[in-house]
Amino acid sequence: MISREIVEDILSRTSIEDLISGYVSLKRAGSNLKGLCPFHSEKSPSFTVYPGDNSFYCFGCGVGGNAITFVRQIEHMDYPDAVVYLGKRAGITVVKDAQDSYQGKRIDKARILKMNVDAAKFFHSCLFAKTAAAENALRYFTEARGLSLATIRHFGLGYAPDSFDAFGKHMRSLGYTYDELVEGFLCGKSERGTYYDAFRNRVMFPIIDVSGNVIAFGGRVMDDSKPKYKNSSDTPVFKKLRNLFALNYARHTCAEAMILCEGYMDVIALHAAGFTNAVATLGTALTSEQARLMSRYTKRVIITYDADEAGQKAAVRAMGMLGEVGLEVSVLKIPDAKDPDEFIKKFGKDKFRSLIENSRSKFEYNMERILSKYNVEFPQEKINALADLVELISTFYSEVERDVYIQAVSKQLGVPFDGVKNDVNRRVKQKAKRFVKEENQKAIRASQGFSDKVNPDYAKAPSVAKNEESVIGLLVLFENHRKKVFDGGLLSEEDFFTELNRRIFVYLRECYQSGTAPNLDENFSPEEVGRITKMKIARMNLTENGDAVLEEAIASLKSSMQKKNAEGASTMDALASLIDRMRKTTDN
Ligand code: UTP
Ligand code: MN
Repeated sequence: MISREIVEDILSRTSIEDLISGYVSLKRAGSNLKGLCPFHSEKSPSFTVYPGDNSFYCFGCGVGGNAITFVRQIEHMDYPDAVVYLGKRAGITVVKDAQDSYQGKRIDKARILKMNVDAAKFFHSCLFAKTAAAENALRYFTEARGLSLATIRHFGLGYAPDSFDAFGKHMRSLGYTYDELVEGFLCGKSERGTYYDAFRNRVMFPIIDVSGNVIAFGGRVMDDSKPKYKNSSDTPVFKKLRNLFALNYARHTCAEAMILCEGYMDVIALHAAGFTNAVATLGTALTSEQARLMSRYTKRVIITYDADEAGQKAAVRAMGMLGEVGLEVSVLKIPDAKDPDEFIKKFGKDKFRSLIENSRSKFEYNMERILSKYNVEFPQEKINALADLVELISTFYSEVERDVYIQAVSKQLGVPFDGVKNDVNRRVKQKAKRFVKEENQKAIRASQGFSDKVNPDYAKAPSVAKNEESVIGLLVLFENHRKKVFDGGLLSEEDFFTELNRRIFVYLRECYQSGTAPNLDENFSPEEVGRITKMKIARMNLTENGDAVLEEAIASLKSSMQKKNAEGASTMDALASLIDRMRKTTDN
């Protein structure tokens, strides 16, 4: 047995993207990555990596899971070997002791953190060196970007000299080796085997985690050359998809609301203007992990992305992710400036404050867009607007929230509350029903003429099995569903028809009740983990009405099991199980 702590530590320090990139050439596709599946031969990529979820899944052959599953499959290792292998990669030595259990030992985390602090000190001091280059860098901050010395010190900003080895030499004089510097992404190694400083002639932004550790750096050029920013790659102490810039400061003042922006400079300008609850992602789009992280510190997020098309698109996407973790979200569109930094410089902080006070919620933002499409003076247009608004409201998860918006619509259009409410309820139910039905039909189609080796019971009652998969997928994904189903005792193992799904259900319940995170690889074969991943992936984007889908699937599961018990198996099912039994006897 390997302790769960070690396994979790290893997983949290393994970037699935980096791991799989070592085997498969991956291309970005939205927030995911795609490549040709290494487990079956294919010409167009159906192998997908989900960095935000730390998982992968192949739509072609059904392999899937987390980093451990990947290593089990690709390296043909058993579970403990796969964990040891990943441990080594993450800088954690997993050693087997006499009692047949494993212990983990971190070898380098503290050392890298100390190295980063020394690096930050070096960069900061370089800003105040008495050289022309240093003075130029300091002027970039104070003049070009309008920062005070206090702000520069507060954020520990710095300057990396225009040299291939000045930084490396200094760090080596402090006792760090090139290997360590490379591991921390502070130096690189050329093909000829020589080492060079990773950041050169850039102004430096240290990235600090909530515990105050310097975990990485971003460096910006001082002119228009490209790339504008260079950021540390993931290291044993840094996962860019799991941290937020300035959260170490924002956490103290963000209980009511947090401001999310795109750039480091936006955050710094906001903090300098007194908005100390601002954070930014680290050069990537917002991930679900970052959304969860934010939900630990705040109730409400105000998104202030760049005013351009790309920024607005990203804002809509972020709005969805934040809503998913239960955060109240509003979007602030910056008028007459490209980003918050520029806005504050042009119009001052009081204007920014009033923007925040008037920022609109996801609902208001979309309602405004819908109303601007129609002239509601005309009855037909009013009906169309109402239909769009009902559709919009039906995408909200909580009924309380829906009621608030129904009220707003009923006031705005002068129509009775109850009427709108009926329409919305009908739409919510319709959507859930249609989703479950489509899943069932897909399942029946897929199971025709093919026997399922991972879940041999599947073909006997495909629609039942599909409902089971719906339930399991949602349970794996969402804490609130686990709470509802397990605490509420909404389902028991008797409600499951297929043996595999029953086993998964029982395992998830055990994990939930003992308060431990599921570790599928320890308990299921890689093929089974692939199947569970499929159940999850298929429902990952089901943020709307997940609750209603769950209820519908549970109800339909209960009623089909009742039917089965009442009338025995249907002819089809009976035939299938007869064939199955015959096969078993011939196998023996
Ligand atoms: P922006 O281009 O909006 O930069 O990118 P910015 O922060 O407003 O910078 P200024 O105002 O021009 O100095 C937003 C964020 O995207 C990441 C950085 O994290 C940046 O803060 N980014 C941008 C990169 O990682 N690399 C790049 O080349 C550009
Ligand atoms: Mn900017």
